[in-house]
Amino acid sequence: MNAGVSLLRPAPANPATRPELTEALRAAVAAKADAARAFLREAAAEFGTAGELTFANSFGAEDMVLTDLILQAKLSIEIFSLDTGRLPAETYTLIGEVEKRYGVKLKIYFPDADAVEQFVRTHGINAFYDSVELRKACCGVRKMEPLRRALAGKKAWITGLRAAQSVTRTGMAAREFDEGNGLEKLNPLLEWSEAEVWAYIRLFDVPYNALHDQFYPSIGCAPCTRAIAVGEDVRAGRWWWEDPTTKECGLHVSER
Ligand code: ADX
Ligand code: SF4
Repeated sequence: MNAGVSLLRPAPANPATRPELTEALRAAVAAKADAARAFLREAAAEFGTAGELTFANSFGAEDMVLTDLILQAKLSIEIFSLDTGRLPAETYTLIGEVEKRYGVKLKIYFPDADAVEQFVRTHGINAFYDSVELRKACCGVRKMEPLRRALAGKKAWITGLRAAQSVTRTGMAAREFDEGNGLEKLNPLLEWSEAEVWAYIRLFDVPYNALHDQFYPSIGCAPCTRAIAVGEDVRAGRWWWEDPTTKECGLHVSER
């Protein structure tokens, strides 16, 4: 082998994470960030002072915009995250970066240890690939039960859902009653485009998950998330082996 020739290919960089920061895009982001800030401030006044408002942070790109908006404005909004125990290493790196950058310790919920042990002993370590039922059962143990604890005693929760992410999210409202979980659900970034999310991240130098640059627009647990090909749906890399109609982990049960 010629020692002077590298066979390593440069890592691909996803152009969606670096939109051209045109005047129009900057103006759109400024207007939407102002509106989201006002929306969050009102929510904090309505629910936050009594500690009844919480933000579900997956550390995806949208959630990093919300994290920045909430922590920069020092709003009285709790921030929690569900650590399923199967998150990608890049997500843990980002959580550490966020804690350092903003000087906070985040409220992280873990699954019940006995329940995970029982599930794995009965069904195997990667049972989620075996059937939709087992995949949903794994999400139940690792996400849904901790979510119930995170939302207990709250009157409203904030998410980073965007209408353009999936057909099931197009009919949502920025504020709606979440029947499944029994509290208000607030989606301040509902009308943001992917380009606006990334423009905010670039303009305000917000930390983000390194996997996004490697064509992972939507990031969940490591074994259930893959990169997407150009032109694929942004959520195509989630539970990719399943039929699209089953691709829902239960966090957003009222999605239509
Ligand atoms: S999911 O239902 O497919 O997992 P998605 O990854 O698109 O949802 O994230 C949508 C929103 O759900 C996020 O913006 C966040 O508010 C919430 N969410 C998802 N995963 C988590 C998590 N691990 N911890 C906290 N919130 C989460
Ligand atoms: Fe389990 Fe996969 Fe659901 Fe994570 S996304 S909780 S690993 S089935």
